[in-house]
Amino acid sequence: MYRLGQKEVDEVSKVIKAKKMFRVGDPKNGHLQEANRFEKEWAQTIGVKHALLLSGGGTAGLMAGLAGMGIGPGDEVIVPGYTFMATAAAVLMVGAIPVLAEINETLTLDPRDVEKKIGPHTKAIIPVHICGIPSNMKAIMAVARRHKIKVIEDCCQADGGSFRGKRLGSWGHAGAYSFNDFKIMSAGEGGALVTNDDKICEMAGIYSDSGAAFRPYVKKFTVPIFLGFQFRTTEITGAILRMQLQRLPGILADLRRIRARFIAELKGKPGIRFAPSNDPKGDCGVVVSFQFESEAVARIFAKSKGVGGWLPIDSGKHVYSNWDPILKHRIGHHPGMNPYSMPQNKRLRLKYTKTMCPRTLDILKRTVYVSLHPDWTADRIRARIEACRQAGASL
Ligand SMILES: Cc1ncc(COP(=O)(O)O)c(C=O)c1O
Repeated sequence: MYRLGQKEVDEVSKVIKAKKMFRVGDPKNGHLQEANRFEKEWAQTIGVKHALLLSGGGTAGLMAGLAGMGIGPGDEVIVPGYTFMATAAAVLMVGAIPVLAEINETLTLDPRDVEKKIGPHTKAIIPVHICGIPSNMKAIMAVARRHKIKVIEDCCQADGGSFRGKRLGSWGHAGAYSFNDFKIMSAGEGGALVTNDDKICEMAGIYSDSGAAFRPYVKKFTVPIFLGFQFRTTEITGAILRMQLQRLPGILADLRRIRARFIAELKGKPGIRFAPSNDPKGDCGVVVSFQFESEAVARIFAKSKGVGGWLPIDSGKHVYSNWDPILKHRIGHHPGMNPYSMPQNKRLRLKYTKTMCPRTLDILKRTVYVSLHPDWTADRIRARIEACRQAGASL
């Protein structure tokens, strides 16, 4: 969360005063339609037909998207070795098996490694726009088309980002967003699924609303109702996010302006090399990414006075080698519901090792992020850039 204030307080207080917090209700009875309105506004922002706002976060968005694509036991889904564990967890929660692929220097999924990892049971790819950095969606969609498989974008860390002028989440067959407290837009918790595909939306809607029992349009569904999860959102979340959406253009403009300044002022300076970008304009500007020839040099730079840098290799459950429950096949509350023991998954690629994506680990060790904030003052920006310049020069 970057900006939060009176707008959110006012909108939430309207919901509380109306005493209509359940997301389904009749406007004629004073229901404010906050969740419905956010879904419409979010779909319009992303440039897609449908958005589903969900409790259960981006994880629920990914699960609902995968379920909407009919993915389950017997299927493999390719995920990068560098993403929050939730990306791979969502695959397991629908009964499928995550297969790990390498990232490249952009910190995002390497389309060439994806193509190498596609096997006879691969049904989908999940590119992850980590730290607001856009994946190469053109190359990933080309791979997906060649192999007739689906793409669900994990946009959880990239609310509002884009690639080649088109919003993230609208390139793939579906996209998942997170609005938890650490994201660009926040309601404390929350997530969304976006898609242009009516069938994915319908299946995901049923899956995420305990059989969609409360939805007034349930009769319009073309598939029979099945039981799913209870990921219904609240009017309060909808109200907060509608106000967060109003702030989004300003947040992104400020983050991008600061990132562009770092790059303009430090480009070509001794010791400084930026990570390559698939699309500098579409990047959300959450971080500036520097790359070095070794971990030792990266650590010296990150720790230099005033730089405030950090290495993605240190980001815990964002690195596949730290995904213990997955590496050790500890999934679900009951052995019969563990995808690794399901008979349909027997022939799939179930084995992981801590070193199976060596290029990913190497890149994460040689990269330094400096996290940016849209409300940094001009003095603070200047000081941070100068600290980076001095740190680079002294390497
Ligand atoms: C890349 C990525 N994917 C998925 C998630 C899951 O989102 P949530 O915590 O909202 O379920 C996160 C959240 O941190 C994330 O960063």
